[in-house]
Amino acid sequence: PIIDRLFNADENEVRLARRLGIERTIIIPGDCDLQDRVYEQMGEQLSSALDLLLPLGHTIITVLGGEAIAKGGRYLSPKLANNRRLEFIPGRGALGENVMTQSNTIVQEMAARTHGTYKTLYLPEQVSTSAYRSLIREPSISDLLQDISRSDAVIHGIGLAQEMARRRGYDSIKLSELREKHAVTECFGCFFDDKGKIVDRITQVGLQFENLHKIPHIFAFAGGRRKAASIMAYMPNAPRQTWLITDEGASKAILKES
Ligand code: G3H
Repeated sequence: PIIDRLFNADENEVRLARRLGIERTIIIPGDCDLQDRVYEQMGEQLSSALDLLLPLGHTIITVLGGEAIAKGGRYLSPKLANNRRLEFIPGRGALGENVMTQSNTIVQEMAARTHGTYKTLYLPEQVSTSAYRSLIREPSISDLLQDISRSDAVIHGIGLAQEMARRRGYDSIKLSELREKHAVTECFGCFFDDKGKIVDRITQVGLQFENLHKIPHIFAFAGGRRKAASIMAYMPNAPRQTWLITDEGASKAILKES
């Protein structure tokens, strides 16, 4: 029945995908801001979508961090491993973030669920430009970056700009600068304003937003009414092959704006 659901998008899922300019959306009933079980169903749908789209054999999945993926990612099905050798790669460093929401932690959990393997990237999330230049030349890091560029799929969250900036230690001056620039959302270290323009950025070792379009399958994982504006701000930039796994809380608020 889950596969049936994936093929037969309902009317709102089609409307939402058209509104956001992406290939597919999957809308789970409820609002994950209010009920944690919504994350469980979002995670199950993510798993079915991966199963439908991923190639067989050795398959590389790059995973970004965040609360949504930390909560939903643990529901990947062991069935994903049928005829696949799954390898999970963290899409960014993480030191400084809560350990539960770091990509390093999430890839370990996903690999454990699906009998897969994982790599780790124990670096601060944000580095200086000069550190960035030398770090990406380190053999272990450049190998990992190569894996990221060969990924079959990417799973990422969509952050609230102010919350993400606070989590990354922005001081009150930088926070108010972001507000003045109307930053609404953060993805891949880029802050986007309400028109979808990049207005600020942190230097991160990992998946660079400019390279995202080369990845065959992209899964954005974000729900809840409070994420509606962030989803709308990011999506004009999302590669067309993006699938959004979301919930009614976010989708109703987005569709009402259309
Ligand atoms: O970069 C985006 C964030 O990782 C999204 O995280 O799910 O905690 O809002 P979140």
